[in-house]
Amino acid sequence: MKFFIDTANIEQIKEAQALGILDGVTTNPSLMAKEGITGYDNIMNHYKTICDIVEGDVSAEVIAIDFDGMVREGEALAALHPQIVIKLPVIAEGIKACKYFSDKGVKTNVTLVFSAGQALLAAKAGATYVSPFLGRLDDVSTDGLALIEEIRLIYDNYAFETQILSASIRHTMHIIECAKIGSDVMTGPLSAIKGLLNHPLTDIGLAKFLEDYKKGN
Ligand code: E4P
Repeated sequence: MKFFIDTANIEQIKEAQALGILDGVTTNPSLMAKEGITGYDNIMNHYKTICDIVEGDVSAEVIAIDFDGMVREGEALAALHPQIVIKLPVIAEGIKACKYFSDKGVKTNVTLVFSAGQALLAAKAGATYVSPFLGRLDDVSTDGLALIEEIRLIYDNYAFETQILSASIRHTMHIIECAKIGSDVMTGPLSAIKGLLNHPLTDIGLAKFLEDYKKGN
């Protein structure tokens, strides 16, 4: 399973990259705003900075909600850096734009997916990635992981090549369950990624090893 970090925070991206396990980055307009990155030029420069830090795919979301606008913005984003993936909302215009870009061999990430039907349309349009938001479903008392299972089943039935990018990850168990289901990618916060390391027996065991070493030296 590929590990993407879901942030526009440069320090956190660098920290995840330094771990040696990072396969890419996802961003969205809210994550950009959270870091105080506003205005067209600053946003474009920020994407370039992120691409220079990581080696994998970097999702950059369009703001337009009409086909022509999405194509215009998507082309400008794609021209920024070869690692950029155009992130498009799963609305009719977004599906049209996804087909347009996939026909041209430009990578896409269809986002804001909350149903199997939306994921099916994204795959039909040739999306590189589909982003079901499992945490936001959990937030409204709906089983987000069940949606990942449903999409996995549908994509396997027809050998769709679209990769399931489980998004809106909230904690470590989301990551483990996504791995068990066979999600191709997960994107989450640094805290959830680093949380996978935590185990009290590891801490106790390591402290004991160091203590015993000191006794004999
Ligand atoms: C996905 O690409 C989105 O950026 C993200 O995972 C949304 O997560 P949130 O529900 O924590 O905002």
